[in-house]
Amino acid sequence: MHNYSSTKISVRTRQAVLPDVAQIHAIIQPYADSGTLLPRSVPELCENIRDFVVAEQEDRVVGCGALHLYGMHLAEIRSIAVLPDRKGTGVGRALVEALVEESRRHHVTCLCLFTRTPGFFGHLGFTVARRQDLPDKIYKDCVCCPKLMDCDEIAMVMGEIPANTNGFRDPRIAIPLVQLKP
Ligand SMILES: CC(C)(COP(=O)(O)OP(=O)(O)OC[C@H]1O[C@@H](n2cnc3c(N)ncnc32)[C@H](O)[C@@H]1OP(=O)(O)O)[C@@H](O)C(=O)NCCC(=O)NCCS
Repeated sequence: MHNYSSTKISVRTRQAVLPDVAQIHAIIQPYADSGTLLPRSVPELCENIRDFVVAEQEDRVVGCGALHLYGMHLAEIRSIAVLPDRKGTGVGRALVEALVEESRRHHVTCLCLFTRTPGFFGHLGFTVARRQDLPDKIYKDCVCCPKLMDCDEIAMVMGEIPANTNGFRDPRIAIPLVQLKP
């Protein structure tokens, strides 16, 4: 549990629990409807609730974010979202900092994310990366995405890019990573 003071309202982050699922869903869904975030169904949120951190202001959940672990070489920040009326009050920063700390607790050496909001994450210390340097992510999610070869998200990382980028290949999926947009 962490407390941050923004210029406006104090923010507290904590691990999410199942009773948070409805509010997490309510926060993410409008951004999914507008194409900003990937949709997350209620069953999917329940299954992955232990990945999630929530941010509270005045005892109300106002933001969420998740950390997906691939291994000590890589973890991914996903589903970062803040209620529209609480944007700009330090909630997004508190969520990212909590997830960065969580990744450190697991000794993760590289943290990645895919975003259309690179300015925010760049401000918090992430740098732009090549998506082919993150094969775990490509083979987990991107291969099922209709935008695979024309992705409009920017890959970003914090930490060391996994050294063995030619390591994991799912033999059932033959997509040469060099064909992907950088
Ligand atoms: C992106 C989002 C999570 C940011 O959350 P937020 O609570 O508004 O951000 P914060 O108030 O914590 O801002 C933290 C810092 O980032 C800066 N910042 C915020 N948005 C920024 C942007 N788009 N570009 C550059 N800097 C930005 C702020 O100025 C602030 O700087 P400071 O702490 O040095 O003063 C929020 O706008 C959101 O939910 N957007 C919709 C969903 C989304 O796009 N999620 C990310 C997709 S991966």
